[in-house]
Amino acid sequence: MPFPLHRMRRLRNSSWAREMVRETSLEPSLFVEPFFVREGKGKRDPVGAMPGVFQLTTDALIKECAKSQEVGIGAVILFGIPSKKDAVGSEGYSETGIVPRAIRELKKALPDLYVVADVCLCEYTDHGHCGVVSQDSNGLLLNDPTLELLAKESVAYADAGVDMVAPSAMADGQVKAIREALDDRGFENLPIMSYAAKYASGFYGPFREAAGSAPQFGDRRAYQMDPANAREALREVELDLEEGADVVMVKPALSYLDILRRVAERSPVPVAAYNVSGEYSMVKAAAERGWIDGERVAMEILTSIRRAGADIIITYHAREAARALAAH
Ligand code: PBG
Repeated sequence: MPFPLHRMRRLRNSSWAREMVRETSLEPSLFVEPFFVREGKGKRDPVGAMPGVFQLTTDALIKECAKSQEVGIGAVILFGIPSKKDAVGSEGYSETGIVPRAIRELKKALPDLYVVADVCLCEYTDHGHCGVVSQDSNGLLLNDPTLELLAKESVAYADAGVDMVAPSAMADGQVKAIREALDDRGFENLPIMSYAAKYASGFYGPFREAAGSAPQFGDRRAYQMDPANAREALREVELDLEEGADVVMVKPALSYLDILRRVAERSPVPVAAYNVSGEYSMVKAAAERGWIDGERVAMEILTSIRRAGADIIITYHAREAARALAAH
């Protein structure tokens, strides 16, 4: 008697059979591609720690988004880099700030593109924290004043024509405050994707170079979650759902696939995972040295995030992954 083959060997001997029995698949429509938008014209400044990622002026942003659309990416998320910063991040919620202007121009040039905007103040405050802080609070957000500004920022983006807002400040009650402000202004149909389970992570390092948002004192551990905690993430998600989140996010993705799985099993709404800057840069750095096959590893990572339960994947690999999917 030959040994009974139990490893799906008979189903792996043709590429068609492999595809037929594959449990997880990727499509470009799952991806949301992040973009950093800055003031000026005709500029495309590379971000040193993130090969392939640029700080773009709005004209360059439109060109890049058009290229992404060509390979099937339908959604982008915008982060603003203002020309001036202050203690309360006023460029973040100004109607004439960089992100509202970019939204208006993008929607005019590419009306079918789904434009999400990150709602936070860390890119706009001179101290680099995600909201209003006081020197002696050691980075702890002053919650209620922060809520007010995040709501204002969301309304400024809504007025500009954004398709979805994504609050990432981790202020308590931010989803509720934003929902109420949007509803008051007639934006009842504008969805909120909340960064519900956001960990205090070293993986955000390259993003802070890209967005110029490293905290100048204290750190974000005061309002982002401890990587050692899982139950806390479930509680955060529950609260954001109660407050009216339409999509909940887990961030980062890779070191938190267990959290993603647990959230996906429980969530009545779609779940997003943010494959963050450090996760991207590590792949790029190792691939540049020839230590790994960058495309293969990127696809494996994205597949693992999908397999863990993500409905939406925010990733800097979006365009190369969409190209790879089209080529195979
Ligand atoms: C906050 C925000 C951050 C990221 C997305 N939104 C930075 C932070 O919390 O420090 C990080 C994303 C990444 O690392 O790619 N506005």
